[in-house]
Order: sequence, then C-alpha cells, then structure tokens
Amino acid sequence: MAKRIEDFKIEENRRLNNDIFILEISGNSYFPSLKPGQFAQVKVEGSPETFLRRPISIHDIDYERNTIKMLMQIAGKGTEKLSNLKKGETLNIIYPLGNSFSLPAENSQVLLIGGGCGVAPLMFLGKYLKSKGYKPEILLGFRNSNRIIEYDEYSGIGPVYLTTEDGSKGEKGFVTDHTVLKDRHFDHICCCGPESMMKAVAGYCFKNQITCEVSLEHLMACGFGVCLCCVVDTVKGNLCTCVDGPVFNTKELKW
Ligand SMILES: Cc1cc2nc3c(=O)[nH]c(=O)nc-3n(C[C@H](O)[C@H](O)[C@H](O)COP(=O)(O)OP(=O)(O)OC[C@H]3O[C@@H](n4cnc5c(N)ncnc54)[C@H](O)[C@@H]3O)c2cc1C
Ligand code: FES
Repeated sequence: MAKRIEDFKIEENRRLNNDIFILEISGNSYFPSLKPGQFAQVKVEGSPETFLRRPISIHDIDYERNTIKMLMQIAGKGTEKLSNLKKGETLNIIYPLGNSFSLPAENSQVLLIGGGCGVAPLMFLGKYLKSKGYKPEILLGFRNSNRIIEYDEYSGIGPVYLTTEDGSKGEKGFVTDHTVLKDRHFDHICCCGPESMMKAVAGYCFKNQITCEVSLEHLMACGFGVCLCCVVDTVKGNLCTCVDGPVFNTKELKW
C-alpha cells in the first residue's frame, strides 16, 4: 500500500490521566483503507533531540469525519512534546505503516487482550471485527483502578473483563490470572501490551492450542524497512518489525 506523508490538524487533545492522552487529528484528503494493527510515524516538530519520528498505532478511525485517534502514553521527550499539542496545530505523519491483525476463521470466539497503553490498537481492531460480524470479547489489565482507561468505549464493542494488579477493580492479578481464561475457550487471541504480558499470553495460547497474534512495540527509527534497527528473531529468520510486523503470530516468534 502506498505510504503518505501528510499534515493533519489537531481536533482534540484529551487527557485520560496523568500520562495518557488521545490526539484526534483530521486530514485534508480521504484516507486510504487502513487496517487494525497499522501505525504511523509521527513527527515531533521543533525538537532536535527527537528528530526521529515516533511510531504510534492507529487507535480509532472515523471515515465520515475524516479523523484518526491516537492514544499515547508519555514515555520520554517525544511523547511529552506531543502531549502539549493544541487544537488547530499541525501533526505530520507517515502512514499507513506495517501489517495488520489477520481476520480470524469464521465463527471464531475472539478475545482481545490489552495491558496499560497497549490497549491502543485494540479499539480499531474490536470495531473492525464487529463490523465484519465477529463478536469480540475484551480482557484488559491495569496496575490499579486509577489507571483504567476507555472501559465504556470497549464495552460498546463487546463484554469487557478486567484485572488490576492490586485488585482495586475487576479481578486481582495479571490478565493471564483472569477466570475467563479458565472457564471459557477462545479460538483466536489478539494481544498488545508490555512484552512480559504478551509472552505470558503466548504461553497460555500455546498450551491451549489457540491462535495468538501480538503487536510488538520495538524501538524503531525509519519505520519502513531501511535502518534494520527493529529486527526480530523468528522461525523465518530475522524480520523487520516495521514492515513484516508489528503484528506477528506467536508461532513465528522465537520467544
Ligand atoms: C508499532 C508501534 C506502535 C506503537 N504504538 C504506540 C501507541 O499507540 N501509543 C503509545 O503511547 N506508544 C506506542 N508505541 C511506543 C512509542 O513509540 C514510544 O513510547 C515512543 O516512541 C517513545 O518516544 P519518546 O520520545 O516519548 O521517548 P524516548 O525518550 O524515545 O524513550 C523513553 C523510554 O521509552 C522507551 N521506548 C522508546 N521507544 C519505544 C518503543 N517503540 N516501545 C517501547 N518502549 C520504547 C525507551 O527505551 C525509553 O526507556 C508504539 C511503538 C511501536 C513500535
Ligand atoms: S525501523 Fe527501520 S527497518 Fe524497521
């Protein structure tokens, strides 16, 4: 798919908590057809220390309003700067980049698992699967109840199961401790979050013969297969997370 470099206008910058915010941006031209799991390379203007673009997932898309949402966590200087963007300012992005989550087999029981800010690509994915006739369910894990984001929005897609590490909301523990994984069978799990969480989910899927796809958040520089800084070791050899991923079937990863 052709890549575009485009200036978008900030429509809204909404804080969800101390360090997580959503940028809603609007484009001048109609979007190409975007797929869940794809990302954009976002330019941080006026910041020589962060001259490399930052990879950020497509969180949600509204084709009628011609807007894209990006959910971001402040991790360092780049995302801090982006968190200060104001309505009407410009954001330059290269998109769409990377592959996407695959469509599960027909009638599959699908579970989306997200941890912390790793819920970012799952909103678009959940809505997309629902529009294709699937009934995705969602399992979200957070550190504590103050860190929970977008519970109501995910509830609009399907049943939401929740864990918090301190038990302040939902079941206590990690996503892999949730009873839904013991009581129910799923055919297809899509997961995004901290690598330790994705590895635990991959282990659960391997034991239970469930198809598992994860979205890797490796460090990236170019975002389109030139610099080789995002290489991941797979059963097919070294692959670039930015062009061959970020979504991988965990059977392919040497974890
Ligand atoms: C395909 C892809 C999609 C992503 N989608 C999102 C998203 O939707 N929302 C979001 O908030 N973040 C997302 N990330 C992570 C995001 O790109 C980094 O947090 C961001 O680049 C950090 O930039 P910074 O200048 O703020 O921090 P830096 O100063 O560059 O780094 C701060 C800290 O974050 C770590 N870090 C830097 N880049 C990454 C990375 N790619 N993954 C994990 N840790 C990193 C650094 O090692 C350092 O410890 C995604 C990453 C990838 C590869
Ligand atoms: S980020 Fe440059 S090759 Fe992947």
